[in-house]
Amino acid sequence: MPKTITSLFLALTIAAVCFPAARATSQQPDLEALRAEVDDLAAEISPQVVQWRRDLHQHPELGNREVRTSRIIAEHLRSLGMDVREQVAHTGVVGVLRGGLPGPVVALRADMDALPVTELVDLPFASKETAEYGGAEVGVMHACGHDHHMAILMGAAEVLARMRERLPGTVKFIFQPAEEGAPAGEEGGARLMVEEGALEDPRPDAIFGLHVWPYHTGFIGYRPGATMASSQTLRIVVRGSQTHGAVPWGGVDPIVTSAQIILGLQTIVSRQVDITAAPAVVTIGQINGGVRSNIIPDQVTMVGTVRTLDAEMREQIEAGIRRTAERIAESAGAAAEVSLSSPLPLTYNDPELTRRMAATLERVAGPGRAEVVPPLTGAEDFSYYQQEIPGLFFFLGITPESIPLEEAAPNHSPYFFADEAALPIGVRALANLVVDYLGGDQ
Ligand code: NI
Repeated sequence: MPKTITSLFLALTIAAVCFPAARATSQQPDLEALRAEVDDLAAEISPQVVQWRRDLHQHPELGNREVRTSRIIAEHLRSLGMDVREQVAHTGVVGVLRGGLPGPVVALRADMDALPVTELVDLPFASKETAEYGGAEVGVMHACGHDHHMAILMGAAEVLARMRERLPGTVKFIFQPAEEGAPAGEEGGARLMVEEGALEDPRPDAIFGLHVWPYHTGFIGYRPGATMASSQTLRIVVRGSQTHGAVPWGGVDPIVTSAQIILGLQTIVSRQVDITAAPAVVTIGQINGGVRSNIIPDQVTMVGTVRTLDAEMREQIEAGIRRTAERIAESAGAAAEVSLSSPLPLTYNDPELTRRMAATLERVAGPGRAEVVPPLTGAEDFSYYQQEIPGLFFFLGITPESIPLEEAAPNHSPYFFADEAALPIGVRALANLVVDYLGGDQ
């Protein structure tokens, strides 16, 4: 090998060995600059985010029926130059934004569905929509704030797309239908999104999501580990034997037996599980039996919900429900058939990811405005993504400071009100989580 070529080879080898770090540095994002850019852009597009939110609020759609919503979202993501997949899990939309620099893949998720609730909030853009639900005509309202979630995620998509060239990695935007549950007889929600490949090609390394909640506007609540409950639907059929209402000894009364079972069920959480370990709830929300005053029917059906935050306690409660219902029925000469749906999993925040991203949430919310909060007994199907990849789900306050929290209408109320001042904070929270996660800081 001629000497000049040898030395050139040597020089190149040295350069290759010595300069990858230098090359990486020149490519490495300036995190401080990216964060400042996120905050500036979030402020700049804030009027647009408010417009999206009002439009979505005025035109709510029930689960698996988010057709208009889905079209608006897909058009927006496409206008930002993303690869967009539509009709995932019926009406879901998945957009992929590839940053200009190499790096990990991170996903953001918003839910799209509204509820069968007639809006009673006095707003110029209040919903007047109606739809068919369970065989009846019902009002439809974004009574759980999913309109906020979508507008925030559309805003985060806009912000991050404008910074695309400087982003060290890929961002996946997951807009999911039917979080509140699919209509009877249909599949839907996060589980179906996962089944239909929302987390494939590319597979995210982590996922973030938020829910608006009646904390004061801009407050961010989060917690590591069990955050929202595992939920199961409970169904009990009590079979007796029909008789005249004036001659109860002529049969077996399933109504009195059901009353005893309902009271018996109350002792499971209050007497039989360690309530210092985690909260739990057993609720009967529906009871049907009988047709008129003087007939004791042969059957009563009860439907309820079980909420738990601990797997072992869930099994204990399930066994307690069966034992209580079956043996009380037996004591009356009746029979109880208990069925529990397979549990919607626990919303469980990966402790390491939560620890890593807490500083981001604190920076976005401001001093003392982001805190670890108690777990909620509500359930959230974000849990299905968290079963696949590490995830962090947090809460964003939407109650104006002027309203005491105990007076704020809860989610699902016809009076539910979400403050638009929280929108830019939500956009900043999601976009900053992406920048900090991709930038590998903390
Ligand atoms: Ni919700």
